[in-house]
Amino acid sequence: MADRNFDDLAQRFRKRIYGGLKGDIRLAVLNRDLAPVLDGKGDRLNVVDAGGGQGQFALDLAAAGHRVWLTDISVEMLDLAREQVAERGLGSRVQTLQLPLQALDSDPRIPSADLLLCHAVLEWLEQPQQALVHLAQCLVPGGYLSLTFYNRRALEFRLLQRGSLRQLDRNRNSGDWGGHPGSLTPQNPLLPEEVMGWVEQAGLSLVAHSGIRCFHDFMTPEMRDKLPPAAIVEKELEYSRVDPYRQLARYVHLLCRRA
Ligand SMILES: C[S@@+](CC[C@H](N)C(=O)[O-])C[C@H]1O[C@@H](n2cnc3c(N)ncnc32)[C@H](O)[C@@H]1O
Repeated sequence: MADRNFDDLAQRFRKRIYGGLKGDIRLAVLNRDLAPVLDGKGDRLNVVDAGGGQGQFALDLAAAGHRVWLTDISVEMLDLAREQVAERGLGSRVQTLQLPLQALDSDPRIPSADLLLCHAVLEWLEQPQQALVHLAQCLVPGGYLSLTFYNRRALEFRLLQRGSLRQLDRNRNSGDWGGHPGSLTPQNPLLPEEVMGWVEQAGLSLVAHSGIRCFHDFMTPEMRDKLPPAAIVEKELEYSRVDPYRQLARYVHLLCRRA
C-alpha cells in the first residue's frame, strides 16, 4: 500500500465531497472549531495545507486575508485548485506546490505554519503515524494543527447496522479495512484513540475534538431529504462534541497545538 495519489479521483472528489449537506456539515464544524484560532487575529497567518487537494477550506482562509501554501502530490487536484485561485482572484495570497507532506518540514519554499491543515489525508497514507511527526515539525511554537480523518469506528458500526457481519470479521482478521481501490472509501480508516496517542507522542496537545457527521449518515434518506438542511447542520454542530455520538462520527476533527 502506497500513499494514495488522487489524480484519477479528482473529478469524482469534487462532485461528491463538497457539493451538498456532507460538505456543509464538514465546513460548519471546521469553522466553529477554528474560530478561536482565526477570530480577532488582525495579523495574517501563515497557513499550510498538507494534502490540500482542491483547497476548498484553505482558499476561504486566503479570501479572509491569510497567506496560504497549498500542497499535494496530485497534479490533477492542484490544477482544480489553481482554477479556483484564478476564479476567486486569490493569486497574491496562495501558492500551490506539488509536494509530499513528508517533505514539508525540509522544503525551504514552505514557512513554518501558524496554522497547518491536514484534512482527510492520514487515512490515505501508508504510514500515518510518521506523517504526524513530520507535521508537528512544520509548526511555529504555539502553532495549531487542524486534523481530520476517517473514523474506523463509524465503519464498524455501519457494517454492524447493515448486518455485514462476515465482512466485519474479514476486515478485522485481515486488518484490511480499506474500500475498493477506485472508491472514495479510504484504504486505511483510523481509530480515534490511536491517532490521539500519536498526536501526544508527536509532542502536540489536544485543544478540541469534534465529530463530523455524527448522525447524518445513520438517518434514513427519506428523513434526511425531508428535514431542512440547516436544521441538520445545526444539530450536527450541537452533538459534535457529545459522546457517544462523537465517537461514531464518519470523520473526526482534532485541533492540536505545539507548545
Ligand atoms: C481525500 S483528499 C483530501 C483533500 C483535502 N485535504 C480536502 O479535505 O478536501 C486526500 C488528498 O491527499 C493527497 N495525498 C495523498 N498522499 C499524500 C502525501 N504523501 N503528501 C501529500 N498529499 C497526499 C491526495 O492526492 C489527495 O488529494
